[in-house]
Amino acid sequence: MKILSVLCSALLFSLSLSAQAGPIVIKYSHVVADTTPKGQAALKFKELAEKKLPGKVEVQVFANSQLFGDGKEMEALLLGDVQILAPSLAKFGKYTKKLQIFDLPFLFDDIDAVGRFQNSAKGRELLTSMSDKGLIGFGYIHNGMKHLSANKPLRTPKDASGLKFRIQASDVLEAQFKAVDANPQKIAFAEVYQALQSGVVDGAENPWANIYTKKFHEVQKYITESGHGVLDYMVIANDEWWNGLPADVKQGLSEAMTESIAYGNKVALEEDANFRQKVIDDKKAKLIKLTKKQRQQWREAMKPVWAKFEGDIGKDLIEAASDANKKPAKEKKHDKEKAKQDKANSH
Ligand code: SIN
Repeated sequence: MKILSVLCSALLFSLSLSAQAGPIVIKYSHVVADTTPKGQAALKFKELAEKKLPGKVEVQVFANSQLFGDGKEMEALLLGDVQILAPSLAKFGKYTKKLQIFDLPFLFDDIDAVGRFQNSAKGRELLTSMSDKGLIGFGYIHNGMKHLSANKPLRTPKDASGLKFRIQASDVLEAQFKAVDANPQKIAFAEVYQALQSGVVDGAENPWANIYTKKFHEVQKYITESGHGVLDYMVIANDEWWNGLPADVKQGLSEAMTESIAYGNKVALEEDANFRQKVIDDKKAKLIKLTKKQRQQWREAMKPVWAKFEGDIGKDLIEAASDANKKPAKEKKHDKEKAKQDKANSH
């Protein structure tokens, strides 16, 4: 009997060892569709990580808030229930005030300026702005510039007055809509379609990839191409989990992370115009283009928000981000040459 029990214990021990010897399971969770830039980056990470570390890691990607939605994902990461997230930069308010910079309306002229700031020393410093909360940032993934939508045409700030807008959980975005006399409502991404369809809110702000993949254009009559802000992401992990990984695994995952982030950014830059065109081709919502003067009116109405958050964010950071709107000489030259070429081709 005793021999049998010893044999059983030995068997259990060897079974538990073999269970430990299996691949490290890494759950990568996000709230958007697989076809968006973030969705594509997550799938690329899985492909690269499993290729670089065969048998050592298994990456499970959960899209569309399947595993955790907005409200729960950060908590889950800190508890170790999920290992990698890429929340929108607007959703870190509880952990750092610095990332609020990305929500300031009309701070960046376009996505290239956002990229220049993210790649600058100040932008990269922000990747460690949550280290005291146990979070490590690997890099930024673009989605794109946000555009306003509603069931009535939005041409000037007055048109937004009294309307309810869905916003992400961001105090800056709340202030942005209050600045035009609108009523912002913080709603999780998974609930936006329903909120727009049922009239819980009248409008929203989203980049083209999210509008198209979540069919927001089917439940909004008008989209104003405002480009008034940016929706990008930071890829993060729990510091303790990351630093507890074997050195070779960490190395392989770091490489997979860098390459998948670059891939996601490439997809974002290439696909933004395509998602826009798909929305237009669907002919569900009418596209409104702002005149220079109208855009300036929105800018003037929303700009006071900057001063409200300057203390939290830091004047130096806001200046550095504004500076990113200046194109480097090399890019300017390239633009000039391209314009010349386009002109010549059109004759
Ligand atoms: C996302 O792109 O991850 C969702 C952003 C949102 O909540 O609007």
